[in-house]
Amino acid sequence: MAALVSRPCNRFAGDVRVPGDKSISHRALMIGALAAGETVIAGLLEGDDVLRTAAALRLMGVAADRQPDGTWRVHGVGVGGLGEPGDVLDLGNSGTGARLLMGLVATHPFTAHFTGDGSLRRRPMARIAEPVSRMGARVIAREGGRMPLAVIGAQEPVPIAYDLPVPSAQVKSAVLLAGLNAPGTTWVVETRPSRDHTELMLRHFGADLAIEPTTGGGRAIALTGQPELTARPVRVPGDPSSAAFPGIAGLIAGNGEVTVRNVGLNPLRAGLYETLAEMGADIAYADRRTEAGEPVADLTFRSSRLRGVVVPAARAPSMIDEYPVLAVAAACADGETRMQGLAELRVKESDRLAAIADGLARAGADVTIEGDDLIVRGNGRPPAGGGPVETRMDHRIAMAFLVLGTAAADGVAIDDDGHIATSFPGFVALMNGLGGRIEATA
Ligand code: S3P
Repeated sequence: MAALVSRPCNRFAGDVRVPGDKSISHRALMIGALAAGETVIAGLLEGDDVLRTAAALRLMGVAADRQPDGTWRVHGVGVGGLGEPGDVLDLGNSGTGARLLMGLVATHPFTAHFTGDGSLRRRPMARIAEPVSRMGARVIAREGGRMPLAVIGAQEPVPIAYDLPVPSAQVKSAVLLAGLNAPGTTWVVETRPSRDHTELMLRHFGADLAIEPTTGGGRAIALTGQPELTARPVRVPGDPSSAAFPGIAGLIAGNGEVTVRNVGLNPLRAGLYETLAEMGADIAYADRRTEAGEPVADLTFRSSRLRGVVVPAARAPSMIDEYPVLAVAAACADGETRMQGLAELRVKESDRLAAIADGLARAGADVTIEGDDLIVRGNGRPPAGGGPVETRMDHRIAMAFLVLGTAAADGVAIDDDGHIATSFPGFVALMNGLGGRIEATA
């Protein structure tokens, strides 16, 4: 853990790749673990969050290891084939790892204990306990449905039809992964579509999944239980959530031109890029292609005069992790940016609404919270900067404010870089390679 300062740089330019997609990496390990045969994964994110998922799977009898050539090999145990873990599953900072694995073990006939770091132990898990209880599991948790908790898996799992009460890909995925080992059809209905990496990857491994649009723009997903999954190669694209950090630094720089190669652009993840286009960002897309069912492109971000926009609540699921860095772009834009319907930001790695507002205020920006909306008013120039910004065990808060420092005249200091490696190992070196001036504070 170290305090860092990010100082302004005029030229911010270069050609980089960012680490693999976090959501897809977790799913590749978990679904590979349930397939018959050996799954080879290229481009897996080797961030702490994903390494925790690999370690948890190993505790349940799955061989999952990095090879000398950098690929990962997972020897699957078959659907329903996980074994009782001999120790507590510690998912560190990872809500995705914890929630998806809770779903996965809920329909196995054993007990698994879960814990995590101080951030994860504060996050709500009742949203998973509730549906998996209906499938026959029991969850014994701390007050408020929090970790540490135990999932006592169902002896005789039953499939359910579940209407998602929150627009959450984690909850949707937990129910689908639980449904894998339940006989019959498990249904999940979402009123606002959330990222569909679980659905795409289950199909890639041979599961039978029907997806239908519902009236009002939602989706109904039907999964046939107890399929035979077959090992398949997976190439993980670069994480669009990670690409946003050097990308926005390129947009707000006085002289910026940053190419990020191999960025995943699943339409249910690309809300930030749509919003930036509305703000007037100069982003060029090259070599659009599809890899393992996911659209991918090379993106070039050039210095831009950004203007404020309204970001509707309906777009939130497709950019839920991007609000910290979007708020930084908004603070450098001309006019008011109103980001609507952000209640879910309060239960991320930190209360991100509060963390963004406090950090921007410390950096001299004009920011308010109205209900669940975040409003940032800019004058077309970056705020003066300052700090130190409290990062609250939240990797994206840390990275977003280091991005702001690349353009703020006084720079921006953060109190703790300790969680950046959960999703973006090598972040500081990558940013400094592009012209950033991020270093430890004396
Ligand atoms: C994720 C879903 C999102 C997101 C998280 C990753 C996933 O969470 O914030 O970083 O991989 O399914 P919610 O589903 O809770 O919104």
